[in-house]
Amino acid sequence: MPEPKKWGAVPAPAGRIAYVNGRYLPHGQAGVHIEDRGLQLGDSIYEVTNVLGGVPIDEEAHLDRMERSLAEIGMAMPMGRAALKQVMREVIARNKIAYGLLYLQVTRGASKRDHVPPKNGPRPTLILTMRAQDMEALKARMEKGIAVASEPDQRWGRCDIKTVQLLPNLLAKQSAKAKGAFEAWLVDDDGFVTEGASTNAWIVDAKGDVVTRNLSKAILPGVTRRIILEAISEAGVKFVERKFTIAEAKAAREAFISSATGAAVPVVTIDNVTIGEGIPGPLTRRIHGLYARKAGIKS
Ligand code: PDD
Repeated sequence: MPEPKKWGAVPAPAGRIAYVNGRYLPHGQAGVHIEDRGLQLGDSIYEVTNVLGGVPIDEEAHLDRMERSLAEIGMAMPMGRAALKQVMREVIARNKIAYGLLYLQVTRGASKRDHVPPKNGPRPTLILTMRAQDMEALKARMEKGIAVASEPDQRWGRCDIKTVQLLPNLLAKQSAKAKGAFEAWLVDDDGFVTEGASTNAWIVDAKGDVVTRNLSKAILPGVTRRIILEAISEAGVKFVERKFTIAEAKAAREAFISSATGAAVPVVTIDNVTIGEGIPGPLTRRIHGLYARKAGIKS
């Protein structure tokens, strides 16, 4: 019998089977060529989906975005969608992880190092890995909320493409962590929050509207962001897609982050400034529930 899709389940031990170009290998033995363009040039895109009860959540939306990221860098999907879904299920099954994160990466493949991609490109590299999620830690973040630190957004002009070029993101997150925060909120030169280092950023403003930055090349079109917007729109929750400054965020009634790894996770401090009552906000909790229902997850 399939396990239920619900939050808070105890994860299985970390998975040890990776998929690389048609082969299922023990994690420690899986690898790519040293001249893989993903490794040498960051010529590569990726996706992360949450897996609950053995089922990838928001699967079509993640595959749609994967296809879009590839198209934006002039590549096609490495295999048909039905076949890819089959590989995803096989990786989940072989890892015996019902609750975890499934990682998919496509690189332009291995070729002599040259910035210009080869005309008749090499075979793309397709990698899938799986690991268990620490559901206890996620539960604690949901119950207590998280701290956020603001960091300058030092990324490039195409943040809408989900590339593996994550150096500015990881440096921001590392700096935020050193300040005791869980996530970094990236702030552009005009003082507006773009998004988190690996999440989308949300506030509930002074009017009580849910606010998240409008889509553009400055942010990743988060799948969870999209499903949340659909869910709250159907529930009649007022929202607006617009820019907000870090100053407005610090004065917000509520704040939260969204991503495949945790849906709507409450933010209780930004740069040590308490948000609202300093506890997870009621609207954030409601939105988490609305998202979960929409995604077919038991809260
Ligand atoms: N990060 N913004 C950025 C910069 C991200 O890296 C992510 C996802 C998101 C949220 O997107 P989604 O709702 O589709 O997960 C927003 C993944 C989880 C990661 O890099 O691990």
